[in-house]
Amino acid sequence: MVLNGAIVPYEEARIHCLAPAITYAAAVFEGIRAYWNAEQQRLHVFRLDDHLHRLQYSMKVMRFEAPYSMTMLRASVLDLLRVSRMRENAYLRVQTYIDGDGAMGATGPLGMFVSCVRRPPSKLLQTGIRVGVSSWARLADNAAPPRVKATANYVNGRLASIQARQDGYDNALLLTANGTVAEAPGACLFIVRDGRLITPDVADGILESITRDTLLWGAQAWLGQTVEQRPIGRSELYAADEIFLCGTGAEVQPVIAVDRLPVGNGEVGPLAAAMQLRYFNLVSGRDAARPDWRTEIAATD
Ligand SMILES: Cc1ncc(COP(=O)(O)O)c(C=O)c1O
Repeated sequence: MVLNGAIVPYEEARIHCLAPAITYAAAVFEGIRAYWNAEQQRLHVFRLDDHLHRLQYSMKVMRFEAPYSMTMLRASVLDLLRVSRMRENAYLRVQTYIDGDGAMGATGPLGMFVSCVRRPPSKLLQTGIRVGVSSWARLADNAAPPRVKATANYVNGRLASIQARQDGYDNALLLTANGTVAEAPGACLFIVRDGRLITPDVADGILESITRDTLLWGAQAWLGQTVEQRPIGRSELYAADEIFLCGTGAEVQPVIAVDRLPVGNGEVGPLAAAMQLRYFNLVSGRDAARPDWRTEIAATD
């Protein structure tokens, strides 16, 4: 792990129990993936700077004092990957939080850590998942903005995930208070109707997902298609030919049923499969497009 800028053994990465990070969830984070390309003997960290820019934005909105610089955060991620000698796909968490023992409104002192774990691909990527629309509403922008990747926001996603699992689904979809589709607890969503890709707008209660942005670019580059970004009603989910989730963690995750109704013919659809394949080629550097999105670490580094 990296803790406050220094590499420390996993067991020694501790914070105080009275830190506002714990007592008031004063914490923000990023989940980042690094993909190992065996042919090139290189690790590719995907859209590292975009994740760190979003972290800077989250710290700004949360009014964290003296936020860590891009240079320091970037070096922490890359040093950890080098020291861990990571030679497979990995998932990194970069977290910043209010340390010390202050009150609810404390804006410092700041703490940070970076963790890195191996993350092999999920088998659900091939089979697709079954989701249920949650009875929990997505957070509102004027209450706890979903655009900010704050730890506290995940209370909302956690309630929905637990409910979905207890109801026999793999995952949940959350609607905004207005009843339009927002996102899954940890991923954004695309639907396909008559071959056209549609995704909720950034004002529809979503995190401004980097994977969503990658797929907006990909739809154009790979399919010559401009994705429609607009509100999606709950009942439109049942009319979709295909649905897939997207996120750094979820990657491109086909959805084969919503509320026990099959999506299309109930199998992974062709557009979801194509987007998934192109995405994996891009993030791993097998597809050389968008080199600006990959930070490479060679095995010899
Ligand atoms: C609530 C939520 N929505 C969407 C996403 C997808 O965002 P990104 O593609 O930037 O990882 C995430 C995180 O992965 C998330 O936690």
